[in-house]
Amino acid sequence: MDRGRGFMRIIKAEDYDHMSKIAADFIGAEIMLKPDAVLGLATGSTPVGTYKYLSEMVKAGEISFKEVRTFNLDEYEGLTASDPCSYAFYMKEKLFEHIDILPENTHIPSGTASDGEKECAGYDAMIDECGGIDLQLLGLGHNGHIGFNEPGNSFITKTHRVELTESTLSANRHFFHKEEDIPGAAYTLGMGGIFCSKRILLLVFGKEKAEILYEAFHGPVTPLVPSSLLQLHRDVVLVADKAALALFD
Ligand code: GLP
Repeated sequence: MDRGRGFMRIIKAEDYDHMSKIAADFIGAEIMLKPDAVLGLATGSTPVGTYKYLSEMVKAGEISFKEVRTFNLDEYEGLTASDPCSYAFYMKEKLFEHIDILPENTHIPSGTASDGEKECAGYDAMIDECGGIDLQLLGLGHNGHIGFNEPGNSFITKTHRVELTESTLSANRHFFHKEEDIPGAAYTLGMGGIFCSKRILLLVFGKEKAEILYEAFHGPVTPLVPSSLLQLHRDVVLVADKAALALFD
């Protein structure tokens, strides 16, 4: 294990599967120590293996999600939970239906709320009521985004609606059947919500992310690379495979 800048710890994994195992063990340890932990969860290709290992740990009786509460980072605008492309569907399929979590303890921003602003404010309030997020799991977007906090002129702190960038639309294209099916907007936890998490676990794999990962942690802290804000967080653990860490010392 190497020491990164600031309080960031870097764990170098051999490959995707190894990264997933390390991440699942890390989250499992959090749950063992705090059975009613509040977890911030991510979607995308990156955490699929982690969720598989967590499901196995539950089946083996090593951990239980009975008291765990979860808040997902984001959801596409216009997609209902029954849409196979929604993040709500993804979470059910990849994790929730395999573990003993209570459905009422899982939270995902609604993509179809009639009053989006109210939905966003309510989401932040729910997290506050739970005492904040203990452990936030993150992936890294190809343009440096986290959640759906896209590059821009300022860090948006609260949960908000966001127009997705071309880079994000093309990176997420493979999750949809047709190009025109990809929603152009989403709702995401803001940078403040992410930053207020007590601990952050960032997972990154693949050589395609090597440059943006390096920029996020060795470049300036700037809203043009939203993940660069993590340099200022007191407790970030980065688990990445060799390929993603290729530009690190
Ligand atoms: C997506 C999601 C993020 C995810 C990131 C990386 O757009 N909104 O939460 O972490 O982009 O995705 P992937 O893991 O598929 O590379």
